[in-house]
Amino acid sequence: MQILNNKTDAQQQLRALKQQGKRIAFVPTMGNLHEGHLTLVHQAKQQADIVVVSIYVNPLQFGPNEDYSAYPRTLEKDSQQLTNEGVDFLFLPTNETIYPRGKEHHTTVKVIDSLTNKLCGASRPGHFTGVTTVVNILFNIIQPNVAIFGKKDFQQLMVIRRMTEDLSLPIEIVGGDIMREKNGLAMSSRNGYLSSTEKDKAAHLRAIIIATQKQIEAGDTNFSGLIRHAKQQLENDGFKVDYFSIVRTDDLEPAIKNDKQLLIAAAAWLGKPRLIDNQEVFLK
Ligand code: PAJ
Repeated sequence: MQILNNKTDAQQQLRALKQQGKRIAFVPTMGNLHEGHLTLVHQAKQQADIVVVSIYVNPLQFGPNEDYSAYPRTLEKDSQQLTNEGVDFLFLPTNETIYPRGKEHHTTVKVIDSLTNKLCGASRPGHFTGVTTVVNILFNIIQPNVAIFGKKDFQQLMVIRRMTEDLSLPIEIVGGDIMREKNGLAMSSRNGYLSSTEKDKAAHLRAIIIATQKQIEAGDTNFSGLIRHAKQQLENDGFKVDYFSIVRTDDLEPAIKNDKQLLIAAAAWLGKPRLIDNQEVFLK
């Protein structure tokens, strides 16, 4: 695996490969890699000749009271895992490469409020603008044919799809399934903040989402009742709920009776970390 440390190097090497007709797949990450990230790498390998992974903890997407400085940085282990997976290039930009004028003075890319100000966007103002800005910069440096994003961050995937469409970026966006621990907990770099007892408890988030899914599939369309019940259960389990929502997959608006493609999405704090999870529900 070749390490790319700077923009010019990355651009030159990847451009040369593209000129030889190679198809490039890109998996952007913030590191502290786990099976969730690696499954995206597997998908990338199936989609292209060359796989590029980036590791960059993007300051622009963290709020002032969030864990930017504490975010786990485990480059050596990450790099070993990616080598084992047969990744071709690892791009490791610095803040100066991504935001040469400093992040406060940088042009941003903002996707419409109706997609970015709800769910995770409601409690993390500016977060998605931080994400779309950095992803756009990374796309422009790497110029991939295809980029893979996990459905674990379903709203992020939708926001990136929208950015790509609205700005006519010539990049195919592919969604990867959520990888989970044995107990159902969605894998996340932030799970490392949990004690082992908290990890068991954290799996309740998944269980409550699945119970809600079963109710919907059984014909219950009293979505506000289901949401109230789920929130109550989470609070009883010691979570502090940020949101528990049943929305439509296409526009993330609250689901109503007769909607067929739904997403149950939730975010809740358990002690220090804020956990997110979701489940798509397809009705006949
Ligand atoms: P990060 O949290 O490191 O996630 C990188 C990619 O891995 C994202 O597409 C995310 O959805 C995916 N992912 C994380 N956990 C997953 C799981 N359990 N199963 C499947 N996929 C999973 O998301 C980001 O970084 C950043 O916002 C980024 C897109 C890199 C921009 O900075």
